[in-house]
Amino acid sequence: MTDDLTNAASIEAADQQYVMRPWPHPTGEPVIVAKASGCTITDIHGKEYLDLTAGYFVNNAGHCHPRIVEAATKQLHQVLQVSGKHGTVAVVKLAKRLIELGPPSLNKVFFSTGGSEANEFALKLARQGTKKTDVAYLENGYHGLTIGALEVTASEKYRESAGKPMGPENYAIPNAYCYRCKFGVENCSTQCLDGVEATLDARPKTAAIIAEIIQAVGGLAPPQKWWDRVDKIRKARGILLIADEVQTGLGRTGKMFAVEHYGLEPEIMTGGKGLSGGVGSLAATIASDALVKNFFGGTTPTNGGNAVSAAAGLALIETLEAEKLVDHCATMGRYFTEAAWALRDPWIGDVRFTGLLGGIELVANRDSKEVLGKGAIAKIKDGLHAAGMLITISGLYGNCLRLQPPLSVTPAQIDQFIGALRTVLNSVRSAS
Ligand SMILES: Cc1ncc(COP(=O)(O)O)c(C=O)c1O
Repeated sequence: MTDDLTNAASIEAADQQYVMRPWPHPTGEPVIVAKASGCTITDIHGKEYLDLTAGYFVNNAGHCHPRIVEAATKQLHQVLQVSGKHGTVAVVKLAKRLIELGPPSLNKVFFSTGGSEANEFALKLARQGTKKTDVAYLENGYHGLTIGALEVTASEKYRESAGKPMGPENYAIPNAYCYRCKFGVENCSTQCLDGVEATLDARPKTAAIIAEIIQAVGGLAPPQKWWDRVDKIRKARGILLIADEVQTGLGRTGKMFAVEHYGLEPEIMTGGKGLSGGVGSLAATIASDALVKNFFGGTTPTNGGNAVSAAAGLALIETLEAEKLVDHCATMGRYFTEAAWALRDPWIGDVRFTGLLGGIELVANRDSKEVLGKGAIAKIKDGLHAAGMLITISGLYGNCLRLQPPLSVTPAQIDQFIGALRTVLNSVRSAS
């Protein structure tokens, strides 16, 4: 007998039976979403959540923004998809806009379907362009789940998912985790980078350094002098910089792109997530003319540059500009930071927001910075979930509340979250 999936219980049962979700499930997840608007999503039971994940950091202007819906709907009646081999007006306009908004070092855009694929393409560009094979990535860096992207991703757990040894060409160099600095941040002279010159010199085949300029896992923003030094070191060796802006791009950090915080001019930059405006999936690898000139890309990606996604992505950029959401994001990041510190909660070790990228690091002891245990973190996540707060857990030690709502979030919504957090932290602590 066929089940027509008309009620919540049968839909959830069918989800379990037919949809592959090969990762751990916190209580209450997956949430099967029936509708979404702004910063709020409603599940198939009618329960509302404040979405502090923005649909996994995609819906930067909020869910189903009318301007994006209208642009996508209009495009639906014109042309949908022609492959990367040909073009559409929407794709050309989006490419032009990205070049205008991005750092001046970049001239041309290659469209693909997801952040991992954009990074794969970036690696190809870097290797061909330099005729070198090796790529350095930052500790704690994340660049995607396809095999090439995993090879430059730090997490051993994720790398093991590939079931094969990773190639010897790629290697890690230190990141900046200032809250847990081994040298003491008050005396920072970027000591964490002291061995990097020697490491790179021992690897003369290094084509590029790939990095999230501000690391999304834990929201780690290095000091200016850290990036200045890395930039100087890599330029002196003719090593390219691939800036992975898949999560940081399109306003998330309170600037259109995170490179702007540091004045960096990468030779390659990748983007994804919000680039589709939440309609389908779209990603971009943006590179300098010098790299693109003699580049052979193999063949065309079938779905590179869907016209509807591009029209929606353009509408997202227009919305960010018309509603001044990038500045608003910077303001809301500061508001969130102050509100979180104002809780004076003994488990809040650090609050790290650059714009609305980052969140709160939880510790059992603020002096020793001992990581809060997994059991307590799970209970906090569950308590927030029950209170209608959709978040993810992040961080190198799995003890950070990643709090990245749409950039249109209001102070009242942040207050609502902070109120729920206060209650949940107190109740988990008193039960422990
Ligand atoms: C910094 C960064 N790079 C790459 C990716 C991979 O993007 P996708 O999941 O679209 O393949 C992500 C996704 O979370 C990301 O945050």
